Amino acid sequence: MLSTTGPIGVFDSGYGGLTILDKIRELLPQYDYIYLGDNARTPYGTRSFEVVYEFTLQAVRKLFELGCPLVILACNTASAKALRSIQQNDLPHIDPSRRVLGVIRPTAECIGELTVSRHVGLLATAGTVKSQSYPLEVRKLYPDVQITGVACPLWVPLVENNEFNSPGADYFVHKYIDQLLEQDPEIDTIILGCTHYPLLMDKIRQFTPSHIRLVAQGEYVARSLKDYLSRHTDMRTRCTAGSSCEFLTTESVEKFQEAASIFLHQQVHVRSITLE
Ligand code: DGL
Repeated sequence: MLSTTGPIGVFDSGYGGLTILDKIRELLPQYDYIYLGDNARTPYGTRSFEVVYEFTLQAVRKLFELGCPLVILACNTASAKALRSIQQNDLPHIDPSRRVLGVIRPTAECIGELTVSRHVGLLATAGTVKSQSYPLEVRKLYPDVQITGVACPLWVPLVENNEFNSPGADYFVHKYIDQLLEQDPEIDTIILGCTHYPLLMDKIRQFTPSHIRLVAQGEYVARSLKDYLSRHTDMRTRCTAGSSCEFLTTESVEKFQEAASIFLHQQVHVRSITLE
């Protein structure tokens, strides 16, 4: 029998979700958290729907086993490719009282309030752009907003390899932003629709015209979670509040610790697990 109370689970394909976790803990420090990074199988951005779905479901099951009543898919690619199926097809069988939430809806919700021109750009992984999840979600809420997406396949490797501040990164940051603005020059707001991109923020700002607003997701996801918990008392009382955070990785502990110090600017205690 799975425990009915426990930490909030935060899942990502790798390290990037730490940028989301960081903002969630800043706003909701009272809760316990388990962060799970599937570092051994990252990146998800170039993988098929079937594979992303299968890997994400394994991670969700693991976090449920560890007692999480609520799991946040901090990964855009997993939110785009797996969330809907897990919510609709798997949760009813696994445990209908548990919840899985993603990062696309909270981002879509804020967009209509931020854009004036109603032309919004999306920079994300190839998987997220191809899934059309952002245009679909945004259109449901703001039918007058037009979304143009460009995939940035080299940005995740730049961050993962700690090259995000190097002069070499300039070329690829400039290139994708130019591509986006060439496709739609009326864009006044750009969604950074990938967990890793906040680390490239300085460079992205440098190559983006100053009138364009850059939207990193962490703070919107955190606000949306706070709002969700305030509206769902039953779930709120099931999330334990001891201010702890456990880190799990499918890769080596040392590798995770090294990368976590880049994303979180602190040393963390990590445990290695397998997903199947
Ligand atoms: N976490 C992924 C996302 O937000 C980026 C890394 C990957 O491709 O797995 O889309």
